[in-house]
Amino acid sequence: MWPDAPLIYNLYPRSFNDTSGSGEGDLKGVIEKLDHVASLGVDAIWVGPFFISPLADGGYDIADHRTVDPRYGTLDDFDDLVREIHDRGMLVMIDQVFNHTSAEHAWFQASIDGDEEKADCYVWRDPKPDGTPPNNWISQFGMPAWTWNHRRQQYYHHQFLSCQPNLNLRNDLVKTMFRETMEFWLDRGVDGFRFDVVTAYLFDEDMPDNPPARPVVLSKVTGPNHNPYSYQDHVYDLLQGDGAAYTENMRKWAGKDIYLLGESNTGNQSVEVAQSFTREGRLDACYTTDPMQVGNDPIALMNILKALDGDWCTPWWFTSHDQPRHISRLGDGSDACARFYATLLAVLPGAAIMFQGEELALPQPTLAKAETTDPFDLLYWPDAPGREGPRVPMPWKSRKKNYGFTTGDPWLPMRWERDRCVDQQEGAEDSVLNYYRRAMAFRKEVRLNAPDKLRVDASTSAMSLRIARGGKDWMVVLNFSTTESLPVPTRSADTPVLQTGWDGRRLLPWGAAVWEGLDEEVGASCG
Ligand code: NOJ
Repeated sequence: MWPDAPLIYNLYPRSFNDTSGSGEGDLKGVIEKLDHVASLGVDAIWVGPFFISPLADGGYDIADHRTVDPRYGTLDDFDDLVREIHDRGMLVMIDQVFNHTSAEHAWFQASIDGDEEKADCYVWRDPKPDGTPPNNWISQFGMPAWTWNHRRQQYYHHQFLSCQPNLNLRNDLVKTMFRETMEFWLDRGVDGFRFDVVTAYLFDEDMPDNPPARPVVLSKVTGPNHNPYSYQDHVYDLLQGDGAAYTENMRKWAGKDIYLLGESNTGNQSVEVAQSFTREGRLDACYTTDPMQVGNDPIALMNILKALDGDWCTPWWFTSHDQPRHISRLGDGSDACARFYATLLAVLPGAAIMFQGEELALPQPTLAKAETTDPFDLLYWPDAPGREGPRVPMPWKSRKKNYGFTTGDPWLPMRWERDRCVDQQEGAEDSVLNYYRRAMAFRKEVRLNAPDKLRVDASTSAMSLRIARGGKDWMVVLNFSTTESLPVPTRSADTPVLQTGWDGRRLLPWGAAVWEGLDEEVGASCG
């Protein structure tokens, strides 16, 4: 049974633990390290992509949705993994990538050949009379969203790489394949699904040109505007209303007890979009990239909380397999900063997702161009968005070759500081790893994440949460400043039940603390 507001641990199998010496992680390797994950007190593990894939897009380009790529093991290994996760009291979640397939998928090849059944399974359109693509749509990676196929003499649509053709999700056969794929994994004991780019499934069938981005959309772009995708308002290629209603199919196919998590990458109106995708009979939760973008801005976080207004449908997370490690991106890479974000995950309302290695305070590694394989990073080199960094494999043992990840050559270079390794942090009471364990145990026990009442106040460098939960009141104060301490004049006897950087009177830079009981004056002082 899924708890309210679950804590989900996302791991990327290719980078977790290798038992074969291939240099890439595998499912047996995940099994070997499950006690580590369980020690964090997570409710569920989201096992990242392990399906057959040419790996043009890190495994999100699937050539067969119903098997395990031999590089990661076998279906029997998967069954073992499910059993071992369940034996440790955790739930299992896997990816479902149905917006697109790999171009190597047999369905796409049949569709090119005009196979009667599969011809319409992808999004084909005639060229304009002058031979140019049907409209101005741009792929999310920033190149044109149309690629010509000379055999069909038509263009096919793709939201990502040209080797990731979009499925036509309105097609009955595609719907059947989608349903049967979910059933296939449910029969193997899976408890939840994460739907890749669920907000991109449907488009306007008339395919009008997207208009230029409105200022409100452009204002979401932080830093230099490298990607032309952000110059458009995606009103026709990301059809929100019907797209959200489409998820009712997935709910019907999965049943009510299966946790359904969507990935939303609409770039604007993210709270409204997440809310419409999670209405009754749809998904349980839909995450947006907002917390990752604004996670060091208390006022922006407060505005997200206020916009959600009790409907806690967007999980919190700060690092993913797509986003540079947060302690480097949002902070100064310090242990204090890692503990601070652990505290945020422990107290914010709604579900939370941790990405492998954040419990070790892993910083964003630097990779040379020749070491990088991610197409998005390479496309914008030398201004890579940094997607590959968080995929650098896990450091388990400080004195072993390749930090105990593999006996072969790791698929990405590993250059970790020894003190980031699991074995070094295991026994050190004050390590980030042990702080995560305490913070997540507190999360599980007190469940501030499902508040009966919440009041949030924020200034440019601090935030307070006043939470009523289970007949008790709680107060959280967070100091987002990287340089200044925050005086918090609580009654001297008050000891926080969870704290990092609390010296008895002040929260040091990146300090955060939770007290039982309310102090209205302190709560308000952050506003
Ligand atoms: C979202 C995935 O997280 C990302 O890694 C991938 O590139 C795109 N979807 C396309 O599948």
